Amino acid sequence: MKKKLVVANWKMHLSTSEASILVHRLHEHIKTHRTIEVVLAPSMLTLQPISLEIDSRRFKLASQDGYPKDDGPYTGEVSFAMMRDLVDYSIIGHSARRIYFEEGLELIRDKVQAAVRNGITPILCVGETKNERAQGEAKRVIHDQVTSAVSNLTAEEIEKIVIAYEPIWAISTFDGEPSKPEDMQRAMEYIRQIIKELYGEAAASNARVLYGGSVEPHDARAYLSLPGCDGVLVGAASLNYRQFTDIVEIAYDVQNQTEDHA
Ligand code: 13P
Repeated sequence: MKKKLVVANWKMHLSTSEASILVHRLHEHIKTHRTIEVVLAPSMLTLQPISLEIDSRRFKLASQDGYPKDDGPYTGEVSFAMMRDLVDYSIIGHSARRIYFEEGLELIRDKVQAAVRNGITPILCVGETKNERAQGEAKRVIHDQVTSAVSNLTAEEIEKIVIAYEPIWAISTFDGEPSKPEDMQRAMEYIRQIIKELYGEAAASNARVLYGGSVEPHDARAYLSLPGCDGVLVGAASLNYRQFTDIVEIAYDVQNQTEDHA
């Protein structure tokens, strides 16, 4: 049985001391749940101090990015090799990286490969813009992003990967048009279909596919209960310990119900 994954992407928020307070609150409220995984992705600056504070049975760590070369004169960058003993996961190809930092398909492919080479599980983010969706281009965009990002991995390596479907139009739109869980399910199924066509049934069913985009406690259950949805990637709501705790508890509940029916 795959464990549901709840990932907190803190983006460029929280100083080290604010992050430490949030971790303290999360320890007070979130119990050890062995059947799900809870992953925190603080800023690069905060990773190291937070790693000394977290109870590793309760929380795992992810970086929000990494540089694909292991070592060298790349001023300002931090490589996956440097993070190998610090994090279990790395978010790669987040739409913020694709848009604000113009990360292209090849760079993202190299990052995915570098993470895997260093024993770090990539959380690859894919998803279309509002325009691409309106023009009927969503499937092509998702296909290109997934296919190129995993193109240097073996089927065995793909089985361990996490792919988060984060349609750009659904990120941080708490008062905008919400995404519909059934539409999100179709996109997540499509991602698995791509993996199946490229690497076969086992890789497709073992890879974990998440949903991300304005997830809050009130709609977390709808996403987490979708067949084939292995978890959620949470932005804004993960900065609020009450909201994030509620989402984690919902994931635990959904996981237990699924196991009871298995
Ligand atoms: P929000 O939950 O704030 O929409 O952010 C989603 C996201 O980008 C997580 O990576």
